[in-house]
Amino acid sequence: MQETINFIKSKINDFKPELAIVLGSGLGAFCDSLDGVRIPYSEITGFAPSTVKGHKGELLFCEIHSKKAVIMQGRFHFYEGHSLGATTYPIKVFKKLGVNKIILTNAAGSLKKDLTPGSIMAISDHINFMGSNPLIGENDETLGTRFPDMNDLYSKRLRDVLFDCAKDLNIDLKEGVYSALTGPSYETPAEVRMLALLGASATGMSTVPEAIVAKYCSMEVLGVSLITNYAAGLSDVAPNHKEVVEMGKVAGLELSKLLHETIKRI
Ligand code: HPA
Repeated sequence: MQETINFIKSKINDFKPELAIVLGSGLGAFCDSLDGVRIPYSEITGFAPSTVKGHKGELLFCEIHSKKAVIMQGRFHFYEGHSLGATTYPIKVFKKLGVNKIILTNAAGSLKKDLTPGSIMAISDHINFMGSNPLIGENDETLGTRFPDMNDLYSKRLRDVLFDCAKDLNIDLKEGVYSALTGPSYETPAEVRMLALLGASATGMSTVPEAIVAKYCSMEVLGVSLITNYAAGLSDVAPNHKEVVEMGKVAGLELSKLLHETIKRI
């Protein structure tokens, strides 16, 4: 960890990020107009290489609306073969760099007919169906406690700001529970029915481990899903990665606007 921090500090000097943003599939457009210091994951000791198409794999340190931020363009997924520890390592690094707020975005499948593809959903809570937890193992007391509370994980305060911004921008923002399975196979229709029955609105293969670690590190967390498709069994079209990335690009523009406005106000 100290080696990672030293290396990053050698690139960013005394820049101290307070906000982290993790961009999901196809959401790279958010960064297009931003200038700053870019560091590919492949150069950072302790970071695993990102292997998914549509994910760039670099950190961008920059100022957005006069907030100092670090943006993850592309994340690490459990299904790539990384441990949950490796998947969430960047979150711990961000904490050590001074980050106290994090925006987690993802592409997700809808579990409900009335949550249509192209919608943006504020995550109110999650269900961890990955079968493991990123905090398993020896605890680092400098980051957080052994048995962290997961109440109000997705900060009500930040969600209220997000909803205010959506209203002002005329965006029909939805809200719901995000469920995560490991992937990389998409869910079966029976699994999709089960998730809906258990109270989830959307499903994906990321975010939950990072959210758990961010909350453990006492960060304020804002989670936003871009609904890219109907999950299996809800439409005639089977979920596929091309559709996810393409819808991410289209609806991602609206999400980019929403995030920019939100960042001004948090
Ligand atoms: N299922 C799981 N993950 C996803 C989906 C889906 O339908 N769409 C985008 N990510």
